[in-house]
Amino acid sequence: MPVTAYDLTGRTAFVTGAASGIGRASAVLLARAGATVHCADRDEQGLHETTDLIKQDSGTAHPHPLDVSDRTQLTEAIATASRPTGDGSGGLDIMAAIAGIMHSSPVLETRDEDLDRVLSINFKGVLYACQEAARTMIASGTRGSIVTMASGAVDTGGPGLLCYGVAKAAVVQLTKTLATEVGPHGIRVNAVAPGWIRTPMTTRHDDRAQAHTESLMTRMTPLGRVGEPDEIAHAVLHLASDAASFTTGQILRPNGGVAMPW
Ligand code: NAI
Repeated sequence: MPVTAYDLTGRTAFVTGAASGIGRASAVLLARAGATVHCADRDEQGLHETTDLIKQDSGTAHPHPLDVSDRTQLTEAIATASRPTGDGSGGLDIMAAIAGIMHSSPVLETRDEDLDRVLSINFKGVLYACQEAARTMIASGTRGSIVTMASGAVDTGGPGLLCYGVAKAAVVQLTKTLATEVGPHGIRVNAVAPGWIRTPMTTRHDDRAQAHTESLMTRMTPLGRVGEPDEIAHAVLHLASDAASFTTGQILRPNGGVAMPW
C-alpha cells in the first residue's frame, strides 16, 4: 500500500535552483510525488532540461527563467505560479528555495563585492522566496511547507568558507525565525543542511583535484562516501510532505554522519 503522507497530488510547488544538481533532483521528485512543479533558475537551458525530464515522467512542470537575487522577478514568478486556474487548482503549497552559488576566498583576501554577491544570491534570494511564499500561503489560508537549503558548512566552518558560510548561517536564522512567525498559520519552515553532494557545484575541472577532494570527504564521512542529489531531494520531499506535519524550525542534516575536524 502506498504511504499517502508522501502523496503530493493536487499540490503546487515552486523550486528555485531547479536547473541543476539538488534543485533539479528535488523538482523531479516532487513532481513524481504528484505536485505541479514551477521550476525557477537563471540557467534557461538547464531549466528546460528539467521541465522536459518531468514531462517525460508524466509530471506537470512550468519553467520560470529568473535571477533569485532580483526581488521583482522572483515575486512576479511566484504570483504567476500561484494564480488560481480554471480547474480549481492553484495557490502555493510548497516552496523549496534551493538556488545558490559557491564562493571560496580566505578571510584576509575577501572583498566587499564577494560578500555582497554571495549574500545577494545565497541569502537574499532565499529571503525573497520565503517572504513571497509565506505571504501567498497566509492570504489563501494554505497550511504550506517552506524548505530552505543551508549547508553543513554552518556547523563546521572551513577554509575559504566565510562568505558562503555566513550566507548559509543567515538562511538557518531565517528558517528558525520565520518558523516561529508563521507557525500560527499552520505553515512549516525547515532547512536541509547537506554534507558533500556530487553536483556541478562540487565538480572540479581537474580530475585529480576532484579525486583528492572526494577522497578527503569520504574519509571524513562515517558512511564512507559522498552523497548524491537524489538523497537530498528525498529530504526535501520529506519536509515538504505531510510526513513532516509536526516538524518546523528544524535543520535536517543528510550528510553521511560527517563531523569535520578541520
Ligand atoms: P548546482 O550548481 O548544481 O545548482 C545550483 C543552481 O542554482 C544552478 O542551477 C544555478 O543556475 C542556480 N542559481 C545560482 N545562482 C542563481 C541565481 N542568482 N538565480 C537563479 N538561479 C541561480 O549546485 P547544487 O550543489 O545543486 O547546490 C544547490 C544548493 O545546495 C545550493 O544552495 C548549495 O549551496 C546547497 N548545498 C550544496 C552542497 C553540495 O555539496 N553540492 C552541500 C550543501 C549545500
